[in-house]
Amino acid sequence: NSYFTILGIETSCDDTAAAIVRSNGEILSHVVSSQADLLAKYGGVAPKMAEEAHSQVINQVVQEALDKACMTEKDLTAVAVTIGPGLSLCLRVGVQKARQIAGSFNLPIMGIHHMEAHALVARLTEKDLQFPFIALLISGGHNLLILARDLGQYVQLGTTIDDAIGEAYDKTAKWLGLDMRRSGGPAIEELAKEGNAKSVNFSVPMKQHKDCNFSYAGLKTQVRLAIESKKIDAKIPISSACIEDRLARADIAAAFQRIAVLHLEERCERAIQWALKMEPSIRHLVISGGVASNQYVRSRLDMVVKKNGLQLVCPPPRLCTDNGVMVAWTGIEHFRMGRYDPPPPAEEPEDFV
Ligand code: KG4
Ligand code: ZN
Repeated sequence: NSYFTILGIETSCDDTAAAIVRSNGEILSHVVSSQADLLAKYGGVAPKMAEEAHSQVINQVVQEALDKACMTEKDLTAVAVTIGPGLSLCLRVGVQKARQIAGSFNLPIMGIHHMEAHALVARLTEKDLQFPFIALLISGGHNLLILARDLGQYVQLGTTIDDAIGEAYDKTAKWLGLDMRRSGGPAIEELAKEGNAKSVNFSVPMKQHKDCNFSYAGLKTQVRLAIESKKIDAKIPISSACIEDRLARADIAAAFQRIAVLHLEERCERAIQWALKMEPSIRHLVISGGVASNQYVRSRLDMVVKKNGLQLVCPPPRLCTDNGVMVAWTGIEHFRMGRYDPPPPAEEPEDFV
């Protein structure tokens, strides 16, 4: 048959991921090895440590992706790998592995932009999603609103002037003494369900700026001050907190989440108006990136998008957080258009990249 098959490798941050996807959109395998335990222990990503963790598991993760797809390297058509943005020490681990496979098996190779992959994976899960569309990409390191006019043609409508929303979720979770073995986002989402979002007053960022940019540093500070004024002690884990203390933490989680997401809603509404002026044929707004796996985020943005006459497209949570499928799929989109590099030399010095 005329299908082709691509291996995608992703090591830009704290997850080591690999996946094999067929050009018809079939996901043959999907493997993610997370450094969550390391992160919980040290309270954040330290580049050197993350690099070592990637190096330790990369061969295993790629082998598992091949095994689960019942394939060997010889069955691949090409290799796609994230080349940025991200921690350069970590990116190198993935790029070296990709070049080694492509070199040894004479396969074309593609360098993939991490944010493009977050946006385009929506075209794998929603076959009806045509260009042009709007994408809101929300993760730990990025907060981007883009107009995707065509493959490789992206107009930036807005970005963060300081922190990304995921960073604000993670810090809030840490200061509230939540279990950090998972990332902070899901922990806040859970706890917020127990709280009253209107019990604490936080102000929506950048109200006076009539653009599509974001800011989360100020909201982080507001949260920190509220936590201090309620004498919440992060050293007491929430599991050992008394009931009043637990409720006070839940109220802050709920209030934080409401305002953090209201900021997204306002910016998306304006982005839709801007984008429709440039491309009146837009029908969809995509949300992707780790924070897009949040149900509250999804339901609030669904309302905004519908109210403005568009449809929300949101990949399933496992494809919103960092993964290899999005890299492989973006590789498929590029490969189809003839955008790939020739195989690297079979033997290259260890430290080439
Ligand atoms: O896209 P991603 O996996 O990695 C980056 O490229 O940064 O996003 C990770 C971010 C973290 O900040 C994490 O707390 C957040 O996504 N996140 C969530 C949820 N799941 C992951 N934030 C809010 N609610 C969630 N359910
Ligand atoms: Zn990401």
